[in-house]
Amino acid sequence: AFTPFFILFMMAVQCWRRYEECVNTSIFSHSTINLFHFMTGVFVYSTFPLSILTQAIAPENNSGSIAMQISCQHILGFLLFCIASFTQRSTHKTLAELRLDNKTGKVKDLNHHVPKGWMFKHVSCPHYLCEIFIYCSFCLVDSFGSEILNYIFLFVIVNQIVAAHMNHTWYKKTFKYYPKDRKAIIPFIF
Ligand SMILES: *[C@@H]1O[C@H](CO)[C@@H](O)[C@H](O)[C@H]1NC(C)=O
Ligand SMILES: *[C@@H]1O[C@H](CO)[C@@H](O)[C@H](O)[C@H]1NC(C)=O
Ligand SMILES: *[C@@H]1O[C@H](CO)[C@@H](O)[C@H](O)[C@H]1NC(C)=O
Ligand SMILES: *[C@@H]1O[C@H](CO)[C@@H](O)[C@H](O)[C@H]1NC(C)=O
Repeated sequence: AFTPFFILFMMAVQCWRRYEECVNTSIFSHSTINLFHFMTGVFVYSTFPLSILTQAIAPENNSGSIAMQISCQHILGFLLFCIASFTQRSTHKTLAELRLDNKTGKVKDLNHHVPKGWMFKHVSCPHYLCEIFIYCSFCLVDSFGSEILNYIFLFVIVNQIVAAHMNHTWYKKTFKYYPKDRKAIIPFIF
């Protein structure tokens, strides 16, 4: 069953990449996470692979090679996954650099600053938008045919939009000169 395998592979790449970023790139303030939010994360990430497996259908013939199972939707999905991942990575880098002294490269403070750069030109939370596209790429690989995956996608859309809205409101409240034409998560729209 190539499709579920491929989705699990992409999820593994995503988890590894986020882990590497947390360890090596991001500079976190001392704020803490809500316990419910944390438990939700643990639940979602640990049940994701099982959810994919429950809907995995073995190919009728095991004789077909993997190359024969690869189709257009896998390539398009993977392309979207790569673009969204690279963009999210560079967003996280930009956010971390706000807390670095640009001469010495050392951490200068743990405050929040207004992010700049092409990703932030139109929205406050491009990394959340990328997260939505990453989950969209999982669905695309499955041609939106997996019910569970579609629900997970819906869940990600809702929680990323809510988080972006909260972050955006906070930015606007905190920084008097916050760019007026910047939206929360969907360029020009929301
Ligand atoms: C962080 O970066 C160092 C040096 O580049 C590397 O050796 C290490 O494996 C990285 N950590 C993770 C978790 O990937
Ligand atoms: C499965 O493979 C056999 C021979 O390898 C072939 O005759 C049969 O048509 C295949 N069935 C399907 C559903 O592709
Ligand atoms: C480094 O900081 C200076 C002044 O704080 C700023 O003018 C310059 O654009 C910064 N350079 C980079 C690469 O961000
Ligand atoms: C911004 O979003 C993150 C992720 O959901 C959340 O942890 C954080 O509390 C939010 N910040 C504000 C000010 O709402």
